[in-house]
Amino acid sequence: MSEHAIPTATLGADGPEVGVQGLGCMGMSFAYGPADADASRATLERALERGVTLFDTADAYGAGDNERFLAPFLAAHRDEVLIATKFALSIPPDDPTRRIVRNDPPYIRQAVEASLRRLDVDVIDLYYMHRRDVNVPVEETVGVMAELVREGKVKQLGLSEVTAGELRAAHAVHPIAAVQSEWSLFSRDIEAAVVPAARDLGVTLVPYSPLGRGFLTGSFTDAAKDLTQDDFRRTMPRFTGDNAAANAALLEPVRTVAERHGATPAQVALAWVHQQASVHGLPVVPIPGTRSPSRVDENTAATRITLTEADLDLLDPIADKVTGTRYADMSFTSAGRE
Ligand SMILES: NC(=O)c1ccc[n+]([C@@H]2O[C@H](COP(=O)([O-])OP(=O)(O)OC[C@H]3O[C@@H](n4cnc5c(N)ncnc54)[C@H](OP(=O)(O)O)[C@@H]3O)[C@@H](O)[C@H]2O)c1
Repeated sequence: MSEHAIPTATLGADGPEVGVQGLGCMGMSFAYGPADADASRATLERALERGVTLFDTADAYGAGDNERFLAPFLAAHRDEVLIATKFALSIPPDDPTRRIVRNDPPYIRQAVEASLRRLDVDVIDLYYMHRRDVNVPVEETVGVMAELVREGKVKQLGLSEVTAGELRAAHAVHPIAAVQSEWSLFSRDIEAAVVPAARDLGVTLVPYSPLGRGFLTGSFTDAAKDLTQDDFRRTMPRFTGDNAAANAALLEPVRTVAERHGATPAQVALAWVHQQASVHGLPVVPIPGTRSPSRVDENTAATRITLTEADLDLLDPIADKVTGTRYADMSFTSAGRE
């Protein structure tokens, strides 16, 4: 590990220490336009050199492609890294563009076997329920997940986009190590109830899309104009049309703070998420996604930035001014049920 290695944080109340920033691997196979496999492999290696140890995927990313893509990297570094994957978004064979949310025990049982096979590992370090199927009691879902722990197929349990109530109910069945939800300068709805519940229960928060899916970096302004036809971000209300123009204007304070610190907007966005650990008093391990080694350097270096009160005064008001929801269908999120 290099002298630039990042600090660590605890994953769950009694969990292992992981690098305080993880790596989101989704874009290497899915959702954000074409990816270069060699560059993605180099990105994984660079992340590990920088002290990143939590690598995030899901069975739904490219219908298993992302898990398969990670298998050789995991084989080469099994004792150095933790792999997090997820179940719940089932893809109907007759329509690969659709996702059906499934939390029922038979589905979970077959999903875990498929993920273990594609990742080519004996055990999944952190297994998340990706989305909540409200037709299945969360206790029943977590009951099966707990069996997977007892059977040695999974080490720790996580939940993505759950409400505070769902988290508490789940935690009563089996300790939950991590909640993965969207959290960034643009998306702060989880601060109302989910974050306090996680703090009370000793659950680590794993913010996804901490760079606002790239929008906070300024790398695109209008998804419909700047991104390829198959890019998932074109479906997101805040990244197109009048919303995109209004939201791009909100990035001015991010650039101001970046100049103060000799940093990039991406680094300020990440520093803000990292700083929520001390603001809210719980471990926070964001998982920015990138397919570029140099961006791993840039993103991990954000762990060395401390924002001042004056910086936070400029950045904190941004989220309330964002126009457009974070998903077209908010029932897909905890905020849609909270
Ligand atoms: N649980 C869930 O429901 C859920 C939902 C979404 C995502 N996730 C997970 O969270 C991870 C991260 O979220 P995300 O990928 O949606 O969004 P993100 O991390 O907010 O942003 C990723 C985007 O930002 C770009 N980027 C990264 N670093 C940059 C930098 N320094 N400068 C400029 N652009 C930069 C990336 O492009 P390049 O790749 O080209 O660098 C990519 O387009 C995913 O990989 C996935 O594992 C989970």
